[in-house]
Order: sequence, then C-alpha cells, then structure tokens
Amino acid sequence: MQILAIETSCDETAAAVIEKNGHNIKILSNVVASQIEIHKKFGGVFPEHASRAHVEKIIPVVEEALRQGLDKRVKGKAKNYFTLNTSPDTLVNNIDYIAVTTGHGLIGSLLIGVNFAKTLAYAKNIPIIGINHWLGHIYSNFTSHSEPAEESVANATTGIRQRSFASTQDDNLPQFPALVLIVSGGHTGLVLMKSHNEIIPLGETLDDAAGEAFDKVAKLLDLGYPGGPAISKAAENMDHSQNTNGRSHFEKIDISLPRPMIDSKDYNFSFSGLKTAVLYKAKQLNLTCSTPPLEWGIRFALAAEFQQAVIDILVAKTIKAAYEFKPKSICLCGGVSANKELREQLKKAVQKLPWKTSYHIPPMDLTGDNAAMIGLAAAYHLDQKTTYDKISADSNLKL
Ligand code: KG4
Ligand code: ZN
Repeated sequence: MQILAIETSCDETAAAVIEKNGHNIKILSNVVASQIEIHKKFGGVFPEHASRAHVEKIIPVVEEALRQGLDKRVKGKAKNYFTLNTSPDTLVNNIDYIAVTTGHGLIGSLLIGVNFAKTLAYAKNIPIIGINHWLGHIYSNFTSHSEPAEESVANATTGIRQRSFASTQDDNLPQFPALVLIVSGGHTGLVLMKSHNEIIPLGETLDDAAGEAFDKVAKLLDLGYPGGPAISKAAENMDHSQNTNGRSHFEKIDISLPRPMIDSKDYNFSFSGLKTAVLYKAKQLNLTCSTPPLEWGIRFALAAEFQQAVIDILVAKTIKAAYEFKPKSICLCGGVSANKELREQLKKAVQKLPWKTSYHIPPMDLTGDNAAMIGLAAAYHLDQKTTYDKISADSNLKL
C-alpha cells in the first residue's frame, strides 16, 4: 500500500512516498525543496514569498517523489525505470492514500499543499488523510535509525534535495507510554503518548518556540540565517575563538543568561525573556559598533551560553516529566532536534534515569520539515481516511 504525503506548512515544499506492508513501513522517497535562499535576505520566512514558491515547486516535487518512490518498488528493473517522460497519470495510479499537512502553519503555505492534495484526491478518487504538523514531527521517530542509504544530493537546477530512506523495525520503535519533546520553530512542548490514538499535551511554550528564539537571537547577534544552525556553529566556534584571543578576555566578562521557568511546577516553557536577556547583554557589551576579532568571540560565547540555557531548560523539564510519568521511551523531534548538543545532553540525562528508558531521535534528514514524517503519521492512522471535501487547512490546528 502506497501513501503519497505532502507538506507545505511553512517554507519547505515536500513530498514523500511511504509503503506500508502489514507492520513494515518504509520511506520510499522523501523530496524537499527548501526556500532558505528566498528568505535569507529577509532574515526570516516571508509568508507571501513562501506560498508563491510552493506554487512553483509543488508539481515538480510531487512528481519527483512519485518517480523516486516507484523506482524503489520496481524490483529487477533498471534504475530510473520511471523517467521524466513517465506520465503523471501512471505515477499517481500507484497511490492508495494521500496524506497532507492541514495545520498548524502559515495559511497561505498550507493552502497550496491542501488544495493540491484535495484536487488529486478528487480527480483520482483516492482517500485522503489530514495530518497535524506536530503529529508528523512526533512520527519522525517511528523509523529505524539507519543512516541515509542514499546520499542527499541537491539538484542544481531545481534545488530539490533527495532525502533519506529508512524502514521501521519494531525493536527500534518508541514504546508506550512515550514522552515526546517537540522543539521546532513554531512550537515547543512536551506530550505523553499512551498509544497511537492517545496523545496528551503536558505543557507548551507560553510565548516563543525554542527554534524561534534561536532564529531571533542569531539575528540580533548577526550570526546568519537560518538561526538554529548558525547559533550551534557559533557555539562550536567559541572554543577556537577563545584560543586565538586568549581565554582571559572572556573570564572578565559576565555572559551568563537566565534559565526562565526551569524550576516551575508545570511543563510549560518560556523563551521570550531569554531572547530579551541576550539583547540586553549584547547592548551592555556594546556588540553593535566595535570590530572583530574579540567582538566576534564574545558573540560566539553569548551564542554558546544561549544554546546551553535552552538545552538546560528542555532537558530539566523532560526529565521532570519522566520522573512523573515513567515512560518506556523518550523521544526528541522538530527542527531544533538537529542540534547536536541537545541530542547528546538529553541522551546523557535519559541514560542516568534509574529505570530502563529507550531514547529516540530522528535521523538528521527527518528533523526539519519533510513529508516523510507526514506519511509515517498517516501510515499509523489510516482509519482516519476521508474524502477530499472533508479536508481543510487550519493555521491554528492544535494537537
Ligand atoms: O520543525 P521545523 O523545521 O519547522 C517548524 O515546524 O517550525 O523547525 C525549524 C526550526 C528553526 O527555528 C531552526 O532555526 C531550528 O529549527 N533549527 C535548529 C537547528 N537546526 C534547525 N535549532 C537549533 N540547532 C540546530 N542545529
Ligand atoms: Zn515543523
């Protein structure tokens, strides 16, 4: 059974083909067209440009995902059996379900994917499943941890990147109850997953999401776009910069930042004050007008301290929830789960728990927005299939 999954909730146009064969669920293809270059000059996602780019990319991305996915299925045939000349009709005829992200996200972006999926479902009479974007991120952990079988190769002309392939193996999958920490650009929260159909939100951010804070702090420290990878790179650079400038410069400067709500009794988060604390610290250190190299060293140190503050809060809240709910598995997901320090530090904290808990992180290619995770979520919720007329986009959709 093949599922065509489509994701356009923010700034990635993505399509994937998932194969479900009993309990065996495989990612056959996972194609993402990123819009980073478009939004870079604005220092953030520009919604109108995002939806226009989705309009341009949706057809080539879906066709590419179908072609790659079907090629994977054709055993004994030459590679690239389904060529550019294969008609879209032939490609779509192999699809049993369509899955599409219906929310949360930018409405102009969501509408492109949702209307494309609905049109295809109507024209081809294929059942459709609407998937919540956060549910998709959760299911990025419902794959095996095998590294990409095929290298990610960006196509120079289309900018389309071919992503990883992975198949599920039961012993690698999270066990219920599972505690899931979702950390992305639009959402940060902890959920308890008692089963595939019982997902209980424990807490969420009261203001900025963790990824949003990474993006804003990177912008105010002028570290580059997108902010998350820029901050983690800057944090890594700090060591190097300390060596070249001499540690003593930093030892005299107080760059310590607060850890908002780290000890609060609930499972909510707040990152807006932390971002403001970086702003005040930067002003106090007068970063804006002096020149490198020392100044960049301080920026790197501030970035590292900010990253550590976010990690401390995320890890503390997750471990607190673990003690209360005693999960069999702890999972990390969302764009910020690409952060190596977070992956490592949460792993160490989970390993210290006094009972056996498995730890799950998505393969790197499934951390940011992608359609494979939407298809994986759909593969576990096929009973939610419906018809095209019952599906609509909801920019504020909750879990
Ligand atoms: O899940 P995602 O791709 O989109 C949303 O659903 O929001 O998350 C994007 C977020 C961005 O804020 C980006 O800066 C952050 O994930 N991110 C990172 C890293 N890579 C991406 N944050 C911290 N460290 C990273 N290495
Ligand atoms: Zn996302």
